[in-house]
Amino acid sequence: MERDITRDILSGIFIASTKGGACVVDTVLQVSSTKPALISVCVNKNNYTNEMIKKNKKFALSILDTNTNGDIIKTFGFNSSRDIDKFKNFDYIEVDGIKILKDVIGYMVLELVDIVDTETHDIFIGRIIESKRFKTTTPMSYLYYQEHKDELIKVETEEGKTAFVCTVCGYVYYGEELPSNFICPRCGVGSSAFVKK
Ligand SMILES: Cc1cc2nc3c(=O)[nH]c(=O)nc-3n(C[C@H](O)[C@H](O)[C@H](O)COP(=O)(O)O)c2cc1C
Repeated sequence: MERDITRDILSGIFIASTKGGACVVDTVLQVSSTKPALISVCVNKNNYTNEMIKKNKKFALSILDTNTNGDIIKTFGFNSSRDIDKFKNFDYIEVDGIKILKDVIGYMVLELVDIVDTETHDIFIGRIIESKRFKTTTPMSYLYYQEHKDELIKVETEEGKTAFVCTVCGYVYYGEELPSNFICPRCGVGSSAFVKK
């Protein structure tokens, strides 16, 4: 099947973190290059990170590189901070009470300046109040993630059951048919982003 045109929108892979929450995001955009710059990120309304950013009004965006351990993507992208302590098995620092992984290219801390309410996601717009670079390695693009995700993340499905796996976030839907209007409850993509296993 021809790949969805949206796959060719170039973007990177990041961790959005805030006090109490953190998740993988690929929807970071520089809104303006004024100093300090405004940056936006789209976070699903169902994600705990969304709730926590609204509560804290401050968040960090950390840039992952192509050497990122797949366990980081699995832990932060396929689980909710409602259920687990995502930082438990990784080295991190704390900046203003916000946990930030050490093994990232660098991070920006942002104060929330606006929220745009869309159907499934909120677009959080923040102003950079602090930033730091740890290394100068190659940022992981969403395209790189798509092309390497079989090595980066191995999604296990229950044996003997027909499963549809979300190629964006690894959510598994069990059933013989995936409804064409199905929306991934974890990351919000449509049924065309699912593959049958
Ligand atoms: C590669 C990748 C990109 C993702 N991009 C986003 C995104 O831009 N926005 C979003 O809300 N969730 C995104 N997700 C899904 C969240 O990381 C995921 O739903 C996470 O479990 C939410 O955790 P939380 O409930 O602790 O916030 C992405 C996941 C992956 C693996």
